[in-house]
Amino acid sequence: MSDDDLDRRAIEILRGNDRGGYTVPTHGLYPFQWNWDSAFVALGLAVFDQARAWQELETLASAQWPDGMFPHIVFHVEDEGYFPGPEQWGTNATPPTSGYSNPPVLASSVRRLVSLGGAASHERARSLFPKMLRWHRWLHARRDPQGLGVLAVAHPWESGRDNLPDWDASLASIDTSRVGEYRRRDTSHVDSAMRPKKRDYDAYMALVAYGRECGWEPEAMARGPFLVADVGMTLIGLRADRDLLWLAHALGEGAAVAEIESWIDGAEQGLERLWNADVQAYCNLDLRTGARGGGVSSAAFLACGARAGAPHHAALLAHFERIGAHARYCVPSYDPAHPDFDALRYWRGPVWAVVNFQVAGELAAGGYAEQAKRVRSDTRELIRNAGFFEYFCPLTGRGAGGGEFSWTAAMWLAWASPNAPPELAAPTPGEHPG
Ligand code: DGY
Repeated sequence: MSDDDLDRRAIEILRGNDRGGYTVPTHGLYPFQWNWDSAFVALGLAVFDQARAWQELETLASAQWPDGMFPHIVFHVEDEGYFPGPEQWGTNATPPTSGYSNPPVLASSVRRLVSLGGAASHERARSLFPKMLRWHRWLHARRDPQGLGVLAVAHPWESGRDNLPDWDASLASIDTSRVGEYRRRDTSHVDSAMRPKKRDYDAYMALVAYGRECGWEPEAMARGPFLVADVGMTLIGLRADRDLLWLAHALGEGAAVAEIESWIDGAEQGLERLWNADVQAYCNLDLRTGARGGGVSSAAFLACGARAGAPHHAALLAHFERIGAHARYCVPSYDPAHPDFDALRYWRGPVWAVVNFQVAGELAAGGYAEQAKRVRSDTRELIRNAGFFEYFCPLTGRGAGGGEFSWTAAMWLAWASPNAPPELAAPTPGEHPG
């Protein structure tokens, strides 16, 4: 297929996964609206229909909880093909939602849609602004209850990187004795060798039961059995705060500036807490036990665009070079030299286009143009050779997980395609736009 054909195919996938105002990640496996998926999908939609792109984000925002939380799944319809459904979550939200959040990509997507759409897009951005501000405030209060300057997750699903090896030790101590029998649906859509193992799923379900039993009350959640500061949440959150600050200036929301700046300052000071000197990379940190993740995940490279990460950029780039020499395709979700690496199993090895998009953006923001170029050209090759899969094997390029995947199609249109509009991929420009 030519690149023009791939552009057309990607548009077809996004249209085919459109359920009217929101886009499912893929048919079958994920039949509802997912939070960070939609934020990436909006960038792909913007290439051919900016109004529809805004609508994607507005639909997501319509499920915001009264306390400011943006949930990770919005169950707009009933569908037996997915587990756990609304009854297991028991959140009593309208529309029904899950009880955890997701990496806050939204503000970064809004900033990019504004860069593409100019003044005409300000009205739509302005109506989302207070909602984003309240979500970020919720994240900083509820997922950083001690004010450490790092964002934690109360469930691996909240991070989006469900079965990252960094969670293993924290999940091992979770009591799963009351979980009982349940029927997974994911492994009826996709090869089980590409999905989390049963022991991971038992722990996921025990955590869902904990949340449900304490009514998803944020203070109880922060005291719960799982609270791990996450490199991805923290660095995606830092970029999102910078983008929210840019929007505050662009939209005349001056009253929010000092508060957003205080979050940015906090994260710049807090980031060092996630540095694992033994590994020479940023790793997750269990806030219950103080234990650190012990390998290089793709999220560590998100620090290459952060000023606060500058003392460690050389060490991170050395990992990048080593991993890039080992893996044919960058960026594997976990270090291929680590014993827990698993080339096809979800977040234990595979390459994900949305992570590559963010890593390339941060590399470019840090001035590492050559590495950013490698990440983009690898993503382009993966999609050209395998198609629009959920994720890809870093060693062979084989596509894995679900097919006809919305966020992969979106990342092609907005970034990896040679025809992608540069405004959609550019990192945050100066903090005081004219
Ligand atoms: C799943 O169900 O596998 C998702 O990753 C959780 O959001």
